Amino acid sequence: MNKTVFITGTNSGFGKAMVELFATKGWNVAATVRNKSEYPDLFKAMQNVKLYELDITNYEQVDKVAIGAISDFKKIDVVVNNAAYCLMGPTETTTMEQIENQFKTNVFGLMAVSKAFIPHFRENNSGLFINFSSASARFNYPYIASYGGSKWAVRGISESLGIELKPYGIEVKTVYPGVHATKIFTKLDHGANGNDPVYIKNYKQYYANFLGAQSSVTSVTAPETVAMEVFKEASNPKGGRLNIITGGDAKMYEFMKKILPERAFQKELVNSIIKPITAGGVTMFKLILGKNIKPLYTSIPENLTK
Ligand SMILES: NC(=O)c1ccc[n+]([C@@H]2O[C@H](COP(=O)([O-])OP(=O)(O)OC[C@H]3O[C@@H](n4cnc5c(N)ncnc54)[C@H](OP(=O)(O)O)[C@@H]3O)[C@@H](O)[C@H]2O)c1
Repeated sequence: MNKTVFITGTNSGFGKAMVELFATKGWNVAATVRNKSEYPDLFKAMQNVKLYELDITNYEQVDKVAIGAISDFKKIDVVVNNAAYCLMGPTETTTMEQIENQFKTNVFGLMAVSKAFIPHFRENNSGLFINFSSASARFNYPYIASYGGSKWAVRGISESLGIELKPYGIEVKTVYPGVHATKIFTKLDHGANGNDPVYIKNYKQYYANFLGAQSSVTSVTAPETVAMEVFKEASNPKGGRLNIITGGDAKMYEFMKKILPERAFQKELVNSIIKPITAGGVTMFKLILGKNIKPLYTSIPENLTK
């Protein structure tokens, strides 16, 4: 029997790439978007994809959609908690409402979806959650204290649930993407006053660098590479990796954090905000890691800055 995956937030980025990949590989896919009417043709050509409307902050809707998907497909094998957004900006000028909303989506929404599927997985004595955290939960950057904080929470939730649910045949894996070329930074919620004169210089510089990093559409950073890694892990629920770090930048910083003293690492992060990693630096890490790491900072394509 074909396996079934349930994926949240699938109208763009990793979510869309994952739906397309899993469907092409013969899986059934329960895909969710916030407003179904906005995407009349999304995945229409794919017979094995069913689209559901779901805002993960609407807990009643979460339960209804989970029950509906279980009833439609009879068995869900994998749930991918992908939906999230990024709140970015100086913490001082960000409102508490923005901060609460960030955690409501990235943390509480993910918990609601997980809770909705635990009974089904437990009854089957099998099931896999794949939770999207972020490289910013391995080492965090400035101006995303709330986003990074929410992703550290996802890391903690995943680690705990992975142990708690193991006796019931349920596995939990976590994805920590570095910077990948998706639309996440076109959907940013900016801190309430990103133009505050106290912060404007540092913040704008940082933001420009971040967008620059986003623009590097290479084989390393394209969302399809992350979809492929998730697919591999979904196909091997009881084995493979528990923590999946994706992207050259994330792997490089993970390595640096291991080898550098704390303050030297922090200084390196500060440097990388002010100026891109140099070609020399990239070559050095290519040699050390033996991986195809490419320079991240190139020109910014228009579709990421609109
Ligand atoms: N791209 C990166 O560099 C990067 C790095 C680290 C981690 N991540 C993580 O990767 C995951 C996917 O992000 P992405 O880069 O593919 O960005 P994306 O293209 O913006 O996709 C995010 C998806 O989440 C959905 N979403 C947001 N809030 C939601 C809500 N309340 N209910 C339901 N759906 C909601 C979005 O729908 P709408 O279009 O309706 O908002 C969209 O479909 C996220 O968890 C993100 O934090 C991404």
